[in-house]
Amino acid sequence: MPPLQPPLLLLLLVASILELPAPAAAACSPKKCGDLNISYPFWLEEPGRPPCGSPSFQLNCNGSQALLSRSILGAYQVVQVFAENSSFLAVDRNLPLHDGCPKFWFNISLGLGLSPFVISKRNKELLVLDKCTEQKVTPPGFNRTGCANESFIRLGGEYGSHREPVLPACRLSVVPVLGFPGGDDYVRSMKQGFLLEWTVPSDNCPKCEASGGQCRYANDGTGFSCHCSGDVYPEMCGELTKIN
Ligand SMILES: *[C@@H]1O[C@H](CO)[C@@H](O)[C@H](O)[C@H]1NC(C)=O
Ligand SMILES: *[C@@H]1O[C@H](CO)[C@@H](O)[C@H](O)[C@H]1NC(C)=O
Ligand SMILES: *[C@@H]1O[C@H](CO)[C@@H](O)[C@H](O)[C@H]1NC(C)=O
Ligand SMILES: *[C@@H]1O[C@H](CO)[C@@H](O)[C@H](O)[C@H]1NC(C)=O
Ligand SMILES: *[C@@H]1O[C@H](CO)[C@@H](O)[C@H](O)[C@H]1NC(C)=O
Ligand SMILES: *[C@@H]1O[C@H](CO)[C@@H](O)[C@H](O)[C@H]1NC(C)=O
Repeated sequence: MPPLQPPLLLLLLVASILELPAPAAAACSPKKCGDLNISYPFWLEEPGRPPCGSPSFQLNCNGSQALLSRSILGAYQVVQVFAENSSFLAVDRNLPLHDGCPKFWFNISLGLGLSPFVISKRNKELLVLDKCTEQKVTPPGFNRTGCANESFIRLGGEYGSHREPVLPACRLSVVPVLGFPGGDDYVRSMKQGFLLEWTVPSDNCPKCEASGGQCRYANDGTGFSCHCSGDVYPEMCGELTKIN
């Protein structure tokens, strides 16, 4: 490597005296997407910029919708975040939000994969029966949907509380919804979304920021380090062990 040229050396000196934040870190500060203010632990992906956090909390701003990048088909929209109790309201845009008639129904829980999110018990459940090969009469407690492919729907209790309907002729899918504000209008319930909770703190970012540092992540979004005016620490500024 060539020795540092005097102007660059001067610049580095000035930067360290003024303790200028590095541009990459500054770019991770709160962002807006539609009506949502995006802040830690969520972060907004932007082309050509290194990740600002854990991949599970990565958001993509599609026009005015903040979508979880790692959700099924990237279509889980984050509508409102309650950082104080580690939960958020999401709308699954894979659901048939215009007419309530999908090509097929599926369990939303399948789309969460290995993420740190769990579907809150505060949700109610919407039970859907479809692919009913021999079920000609409406099963008790259910209503027929107006959809081309016959399916039946029922508003249930607390999410996860149903017992399996004894209907081997049909396939059951369970959709979490926060409630049924529109009575039997299940499409309106789906549009309002459901509550998800996150269980694991994703890293040490709050601790690092409280100590005056800035959080940085490796290119895959997992490796965490705390940058404190030129020094890099594993967790927070002023620790005994430095990384550099
Ligand atoms: C988002 O942030 C702006 C500016 O800080 C603030 O005025 C606004 O009330 C916030 N909106 C929400 C929904 O928290
Ligand atoms: C993102 O927006 C585009 C254009 O509005 C739309 O075609 C696409 O389906 C949207 N993606 C998702 C995942 O909603
Ligand atoms: C978190 O707080 C919000 C706002 O008070 C509330 O609507 C939501 O149900 C709470 N989440 C959980 C998991 O209790
Ligand atoms: C009905 O189901 C068939 C077979 O699963 C599918 O090909 C078709 O698109 C569905 N029709 C509608 C209107 O969803
Ligand atoms: C089923 O239909 C009845 C009669 O129209 C209605 O009162 C009830 O709310 C409906 N239930 C659901 C889950 O759509
Ligand atoms: C959805 O989950 C229920 C259990 O809650 C299960 O019985 C059912 O087979 C699942 N349906 C699909 C389509 O995976």
